[in-house]
Amino acid sequence: MDKYRYWKHEAIVADLDAHRHDFHIAIENWQHDLNIGTVVRTANAFLAKEVHIIGRRRWNRRGAMVTDRYQHVRHHPTVEDFVEWAQGEGLAIIGIDIFPDSVPLETYELPRNCVLVFGQEGPGLTPEVHDAAVATLSIEQYGSTRSMNAASAAAIAMHAWIRRHNFGQRVS
Ligand SMILES: C[S@@+](CC[C@H](N)C(=O)[O-])C[C@H]1O[C@@H](n2cnc3c(N)ncnc32)[C@H](O)[C@@H]1O
Repeated sequence: MDKYRYWKHEAIVADLDAHRHDFHIAIENWQHDLNIGTVVRTANAFLAKEVHIIGRRRWNRRGAMVTDRYQHVRHHPTVEDFVEWAQGEGLAIIGIDIFPDSVPLETYELPRNCVLVFGQEGPGLTPEVHDAAVATLSIEQYGSTRSMNAASAAAIAMHAWIRRHNFGQRVS
């Protein structure tokens, strides 16, 4: 945003912290997934409270375009650790994937305090996250591909939360 052009890094983060939304996002990181940087960048654009990396600590930062410096990124080595943390914070764990029991994101009443969890490029969400989630949501598709990439799905899901809870609420 242009308003931050001459601000110091700490001042920008402090201002963002004062306005962050109530949703968190999490992505599973068991293999090498190039989507994660892009997901972090979009989380910054939509001002997610925090980004959570579940699994391997290392992730490819290239797609983040340095936005990770302005985003609180927390690492959870296992799904168990992540679930314990989310429950402790009183956050609804919402899985985003195309499972037989998924319900449409388009009509689901996304709770305000939630963490949206995305899976890996190949396997998708692990069974452990699927089991821990209060619901798993699918994004309706119309073409021939079985799924889109996690970064695209994450952008759609974050925007669904914004439309439901905070559109037009940002005060500068
Ligand atoms: C390439 S998909 C994984 C494969 C998927 N589990 C399958 O059955 O083919 C990677 C991630 O993107 C997200 N995703 C992609 N397309 C989606 C859709 N239509 N609805 C919900 N999530 C989607 C999910 O978070 C998923 O775990």
